[in-house]
Amino acid sequence: MAEDSNSYALQMVNIDKYFGAVCALKNVSFDVGSNEIVGLIGDNGAGKSTIVKILTGVFPPTSGELYITGRKVDFRKYSVQKAHEYGIETVYQDKSLGEKQVLWRNFFIGREITLPFGFINVKKEKEIANEIMINTIGFRGKGITVDSMVSLLSGGERQGVAIGRAMHFEADLILLDEPTVALSLKEVHKVLNFVYKIKDGGKACIYISHNIHDVYEIADRFVIIDRGEIVASILKKDISLKDLDSFLLEYAHGMKDKAEE
Ligand SMILES: Nc1ncnc2c1ncn2[C@@H]1O[C@H](COP(=O)(O)OP(=O)(O)OP(=O)(O)O)[C@@H](O)[C@H]1O
Ligand SMILES: [Mg+2]
Repeated sequence: MAEDSNSYALQMVNIDKYFGAVCALKNVSFDVGSNEIVGLIGDNGAGKSTIVKILTGVFPPTSGELYITGRKVDFRKYSVQKAHEYGIETVYQDKSLGEKQVLWRNFFIGREITLPFGFINVKKEKEIANEIMINTIGFRGKGITVDSMVSLLSGGERQGVAIGRAMHFEADLILLDEPTVALSLKEVHKVLNFVYKIKDGGKACIYISHNIHDVYEIADRFVIIDRGEIVASILKKDISLKDLDSFLLEYAHGMKDKAEE
């Protein structure tokens, strides 16, 4: 875990989130080191996506504080756009990429490189997109070029493009909420490789997945959330996959509740 506030990608402090009377997050304190991969694990409805949405400016918490690289976020002024400015990027399974677009254009949606008079610098954008494809994502000689339509790419390749974008724009923190749902085994491996690149690139990542094997493989630390509350934070070096699996099963079966009675 990070040692001082400068080495945190983010810190959530005592965050509560209510949807009407429903308490989705209760006193959540959660941090991610500046070069840490955190696996956020919990059952359906535990509050994982709610955490992601607060971090990416979709909605504010009911109460609590958020610090991004040590800077306190003012929720009255926080937004999806602002989260980008703070270096936070999210990669969704489907919505992150425009289908009916060529790759190079897709890389620069909303962030076009322009020439004087406002024309898009096509040459420059293609060059950069090509560079990202080859060096960041590692697409090599597969018949896919920067002029290929996004709709031709496999699910894993799309994830790669989205992650490549996040890396090119130097996101400090990349949030992956179920990035491997509906991907083939081979594509899942590609996504996992991209996460290794995030780590190698000195950046941070929150990886949310129901597949405990994937999470175990790539995360430095596991944070377990149960019905809106963080119940454990365990470093990978302190737990085997088997023990993590048993630990989660105990929660799933409510054994912890019984033990506490
Ligand atoms: N916009 C909303 N309005 C009302 N309730 C919501 C809203 N978003 C989430 N919730 C509720 O908050 C709780 C947490 O939901 P959340 O989507 O964060 O869970 P999750 O851990 O991402 O689950 P999953 O693994 O199924 O994606 C759930 O009880 C859910 O019904
Ligand atoms: Mg979710």
